[in-house]
Parts: sequence; structure tokens; C-alpha cells
Amino acid sequence: MAIKACVFDAYGTLFDVSAAAREAAGEPGQEALAGCWQALSETWRQKQLGYSWLRAVTGAHADFWQVTGEALDYALAEQKLADPALRERLLALYFELSAYPEVPEMLGNLKETGFATAILSNGSPEMLLGAVTSAGIGEVLDEVISVEDVSVFKPDRRVYDLVGTALDVAPAEVLFVSSNGWDAAAASGYGFVTAWVNRTGLPMDRLPWRPAHELSDLTTIPELAGRL
Ligand code: LAC
Repeated sequence: MAIKACVFDAYGTLFDVSAAAREAAGEPGQEALAGCWQALSETWRQKQLGYSWLRAVTGAHADFWQVTGEALDYALAEQKLADPALRERLLALYFELSAYPEVPEMLGNLKETGFATAILSNGSPEMLLGAVTSAGIGEVLDEVISVEDVSVFKPDRRVYDLVGTALDVAPAEVLFVSSNGWDAAAASGYGFVTAWVNRTGLPMDRLPWRPAHELSDLTTIPELAGRL
């Protein structure tokens, strides 16, 4: 069955989640952050994902903006950097995260070829709108789908179900693209054709499912979608 829609994870896949801490670390007066921004960013991301899974399995849903703030509080405390002004600055940068450089052209190519394009993300509608707007990619996306429609986080199957409802496509007609190995793997288990964008050469997650394709960035997505 040919691919009709290309659906992208947002954070880490289209948007560079390390950009907020990296950019803040380069600002005047942020010498303490400059020494630890990579560790802070790594903990922030791992806690954000961990908290999302814990909230999903316990039924204690809160939106991803709250979870992102709580994960940041942990990461700042770990680095002994708890400071309301720094917290506010990091969250402001996260709200308008930079997209990876190849994203606008890649999405434009897909649209020109006739594929439907969408985001499927844990992000709240407000934070997704902030990132999509600041990256200027709203024109090349047909849908921006948030888990808030089902109030549970990935990889709950109800999240992946949102794609068929929004785009009127069968799972096998969807190329789902994520830089999160666990997300790409779980989406394979769901029935999507999947591509894992493995920018840093990470090992494959040990899960019951595997991504169908592995890429080092997003530039070859139009070519991959065209030949599937
Ligand atoms: C998302 C997280 C998983 O955008 O990165 O859904």
C-alpha cells in the first residue's frame, strides 16, 4: 500500500530540544549555565519523557507544557541553578524552539509531491503553535495533532489513532517519522511504516518492535516516502 501521509514527531524530530539551553547559555550573565547546559538539557529531556510515561501509566495526565516545566525544575535543582528568571527564559526559548535546518524544504517537497503532512506530538496545542509559527512551517503542514485530544501521552495507542481520524488514512498508508527510538518502535507496533531519525548514532531501543527505516537526518524523507 503506497504512503499517503508523512507524520512527524515534534520535539527532537522537527525541533531541536537542546536549542533552548544552548541559546540561553550564550546570553550575557549566564556563565553558570554555560558550564553545564548540555547536562541540564539532557536531564530536562529525560525527565520530561519519564514524567510523561509515569503520568500516562498512572492516569495522572497534565499537559506537556506543565510536564516540561516540572522536568526543568528538576534539572535546574540538580545543577543548583534554581532561579525563577532563568526558568522563565529557558521556557520562553522552549516555546519557540528552532527547527532543524532541513525541515522547511523537506516539508515543502512532500507537499509539492502531494503527500499529506502532519505533526503528531505530546506537545500542547499552544506550545506546538508557538514552535510551528516561529519556524514558519505552518503553510507546509496539513494538521498539527496534539495528544491533548485524548489526554494521554505517547506511546498509548489512542494517540496514534488520532492520525487516521485527522487525515482519513489507514495505518499502512502513514510514514511516521520520529527521532525518539521508542516512539518510532511503538508506532511500528501500531502499524505505521516508520523511520527513526538517529542523528547521534544511538543504539536501537530494546523493545518488542523495531523502526522499519533508520536515517541520519530528515533530508531523505521525500525520497523514502516516494519509493515506499
Ligand atoms: C513529542 C515528543 C515525544 O513531540 O518529543 O511527541
